[in-house]
Amino acid sequence: MGYRDVYTESIQDREAFWRKQAEKLDWFQPPSEILSKDERGFYRWFRGGQLNVAHLALDAHVDGGRGDQTAIIYDSPVTATQKRFTYRELRDEVARAAGMLRGLGVDKGDRVIIYMPMIPEAIISMLACARLGAIHSVVFGGFSPNELAIRINDAQPKALLTASCGIEFERVIPYKPLVDEALRRADHSPDNTVIVQRPQAAAELQPGRDHDWNDLMAGAQAVDPVPVDATDPLYILYTSGTTGKPKGVVRDSGGYAVALNFSMETIYDLHPGEVFWTASDVGWVVGHSYIVYAPLIRGCTSVVYEGKPVRTPDAGAFWRVISEHKAKAFFTAPTAFRAVKKEDPEAKHLEKYDISCLKNVFVAGERLDPPTYEWLSSTLKRPVVDHWWQTETGWAIVANPMGIEPHPVKSGSASLPVPGYDIRVLNDNGQELPAGQQGNLAVQLPLPPGCLPTLWNDDARFKKSYLERFSGFYDTSDGGFIDEEGYVFIMGRVDDVINIAGHRLSTGEMEEVIGGHAAVAECAVVGIHDELKGELPVAFVVLKDGVDIAPEQLEKELVQAVRNEIGAIAAMRQVAVVSKLPKTRSGKILRKTIRSLSQEDPEKVPTPSTIDDPGSLDVIVEAMQERGIGQYDGNDG
Ligand code: COA
Ligand code: AMP
Repeated sequence: MGYRDVYTESIQDREAFWRKQAEKLDWFQPPSEILSKDERGFYRWFRGGQLNVAHLALDAHVDGGRGDQTAIIYDSPVTATQKRFTYRELRDEVARAAGMLRGLGVDKGDRVIIYMPMIPEAIISMLACARLGAIHSVVFGGFSPNELAIRINDAQPKALLTASCGIEFERVIPYKPLVDEALRRADHSPDNTVIVQRPQAAAELQPGRDHDWNDLMAGAQAVDPVPVDATDPLYILYTSGTTGKPKGVVRDSGGYAVALNFSMETIYDLHPGEVFWTASDVGWVVGHSYIVYAPLIRGCTSVVYEGKPVRTPDAGAFWRVISEHKAKAFFTAPTAFRAVKKEDPEAKHLEKYDISCLKNVFVAGERLDPPTYEWLSSTLKRPVVDHWWQTETGWAIVANPMGIEPHPVKSGSASLPVPGYDIRVLNDNGQELPAGQQGNLAVQLPLPPGCLPTLWNDDARFKKSYLERFSGFYDTSDGGFIDEEGYVFIMGRVDDVINIAGHRLSTGEMEEVIGGHAAVAECAVVGIHDELKGELPVAFVVLKDGVDIAPEQLEKELVQAVRNEIGAIAAMRQVAVVSKLPKTRSGKILRKTIRSLSQEDPEKVPTPSTIDDPGSLDVIVEAMQERGIGQYDGNDG
């Protein structure tokens, strides 16, 4: 069947379509209903079904004869180590880690926070939770203690699993002080903390609360997978919304397993026994889905990489790992390739490696800008597949269906709707727009399996954030258009979420931190285009009357505050002090206009009809020129 037939069936006969996909998995009990609505009126997939995702990812393969195949390859240039786990070895480690957790009182439905760098124990921890039916919540290592505390308070974990340190290029970052600080700040306190002691940094353990991973594992009993309902949560993954409180995206077990297995075949063209490398981090959705769950459910080998695109040791790192582990498909964020291109524009490092194993390259997490696409496809001479998705969906919404029927690429487009997603472009009043017209990208309900059923402990926010704006649709908060041939073009967020080096962050949250400074009366943080990271946050700040502080000093303090409260990944480095901010007559700050001023010729940026004081635009332009922000950096100032 070609793409068009598969897609049509997925929309016109959803239940039959997804039943067939579900039958490919080893359920303990097959679902009694394929699609239904729960008591809250939310769509649910595969009710009545019982399964265990760790069983699908491990035991089912061992039982099916793949026990000796490599499940994961840990490749860590920052520690100069490599380690392989066969499916049997990984199953046994996970079974013992599940026993360790059970010994700490963790049971089905309990939450466990995982705050770890890219080490095998991170994957083992996730799968151990899945094995017990416990709900993991992985927190990216680049987040600050404050962010960790927010997640601890919301998820109320029974246990917290961490490591003594992470390693950023050559820099060792001790995690334990960050965890201790988070636990001091949090109102909720997990009963136990388990620490993987790494040779690069020893963590001091607090007796009674902190345990050494190896000590506990040595005495742990292996446990069998616990059957869970298809609709039971597998994990919570927090992601940035528009406020200071992150959204706890819930992922249920059955729909996710079915969707991921389907995606491996149809989008990534990957089959059991083949090698998939996703260079991301288990702290992000891409890592959850395509470092851990999808490759293992599919019976592939997954590369777990603790390194960077560059300087570990050089800009040939990607090519080395692809050739050494014979990856058939490689997936990362465009920003990572921009980093490689910057250091090695002629891709000289590539000459040293045989990457003939590589069939397709996939990118997501941010827009694939045409220059990066051109560079990549002419350098690698193989398909470079942009695909669009969100933490909320867990897998791609728009992609080129490489495993069904590869389509010609259109630069700037992520290609076609993935089977299961009925995508429409709506104007602000919810009316559907014709081909070619830009508007809000929305997905007609129901969403396919794998997408979020709700937000953790917050059905009201789930409805408000995603379902209320356009009745009958999921609001993606991305803008874009669909062309005459059905190709979808994603033009970026229409809310206050920005994308910094493939990391999703909230400008609203940064504004809350900056607004908390004693000298600040009000502020606006906007994402300004950056050659390497895609976007960088810049703060425009109005001081309180009578405050006397040097702008350089204020900038230093605010940059540090954002680093402390959110994390280094927020990468906020520039603060411009201004006398006023452009606002509407009702007092709403015109952030979009500020951003346009940084990107376009200010003479041509139209003055919004609702603006209260047009002179405020000149104030911003002057500040940008003075600080070299946006188009004014370099010679223009
Ligand atoms: N733990 C602790 N700190 C971290 C971290 C982690 N896991 N990840 C990043 N940081 C820190 C960095 O050390 C840096 O700190 P600094 O300001 O003290 O130097 C800061 O956060 C910003 O990091 P980053 O934005 O990653 O910039 P970089 O210059 O270190 O690296 C790239 C640039 C492009 C190499 C890197 O961003 C990258 O590989 N991005 C790919 C992102 C990705 O995979 N996204 C997943 C979606 S698919
Ligand atoms: P995250 O939840 O971190 O995966 O971020 C999701 C957001 O990243 C989306 O809402 C988009 O704004 C952006 N994004 C992800 N993939 C793409 C893509 N392929 N093209 C354009 N934007 C993307």
